[in-house]
Amino acid sequence: MSNSLHFLSLSQEWVDLFLSFGKPLNFLALVTFLVGLLTAVSVLRTIDVLKEKLGIAPEPKKAAWWSTKRIMKTLTDATPVEKENDIMLDHNYDGIKELDNSLPPWWLYGFYLTIVMSIVYMGYYHLGSGPLSKDEFQADMAQIEATKAEALKQAGNNIDENSVVLLSDASALAEGKKLYDANCVACHAADGGGLVGPNLTDAYWIHGGSVKDVFSIIKYGVLEKGMISWQEQLNPSEMQAVSSYILNFQGTTPAVPKEAQGVLFSAETTPAVGDSAL
Ligand code: HEC
Repeated sequence: MSNSLHFLSLSQEWVDLFLSFGKPLNFLALVTFLVGLLTAVSVLRTIDVLKEKLGIAPEPKKAAWWSTKRIMKTLTDATPVEKENDIMLDHNYDGIKELDNSLPPWWLYGFYLTIVMSIVYMGYYHLGSGPLSKDEFQADMAQIEATKAEALKQAGNNIDENSVVLLSDASALAEGKKLYDANCVACHAADGGGLVGPNLTDAYWIHGGSVKDVFSIIKYGVLEKGMISWQEQLNPSEMQAVSSYILNFQGTTPAVPKEAQGVLFSAETTPAVGDSAL
């Protein structure tokens, strides 16, 4: 956009310049310039004609500086292999001689190519829209993060009562607390002391106190006793988090503890459902 505007304003300047020749003084200057040019050309021509007449041979024509041949020669001024003997230096160390030649043309072409490439590269990547390696790195990392998050989500959704593990990291426990406070306090009390639902702070469990037991109860519920099934409302990783959170109540002293229900749970003895210690 800005480029084309720039271009337009340039051509406007040329138009102005052209129109300004309509003014007498400018017109005079233009005519003087053209007359001068013509004079110079005709003087040069006269010199040529004179030289010819006097028999002075014209200098052999050199290729113009912009010709490919001249440019190539300037860029690669190596002496051809057949003439290398002329440029061999005269010192000789145990048969090792020094050839004072320039770099071979094929090598130099490669070098010039890198210069051209660097300009293209600079234009495309640094001035244009090409992504720098920093951007590419960040894009890759974002992609990896997304894949990782997706994989974690999948892994979370695969958790069931057989694969559930007790989490202890702060973020999982914080999530568990949030879920517990939002869904469970009405029946189990904020400190786990128990209301309609049993006390979750003591070592007595109706359905077992391992993380697998707890997860299973939360997932399927005990509908006839008033404990709902949560699998429709919480996803597996949320149920794992809240299971881990309530198992942290173990050993704490709630404000109004409900009397113990179920059996004393220890990791070795898995109580049968419906057993009662009372
Ligand atoms: C509507 C009331 C109610 C709500 C809400 C509730 N529970 Fe319960 N919960 C109960 C009752 C009642 C029982 C006892 C079931 C039984 O006697 O078998 C129970 C039992 C449990 C048990 C088993 C305890 C044991 O001793 O084996 C766990 C674990 C549990 N609930 C966790 C939760 C969690 C976590 C939530 C929130 C996501 C929750 N409950 C929400 C009423 C509730």
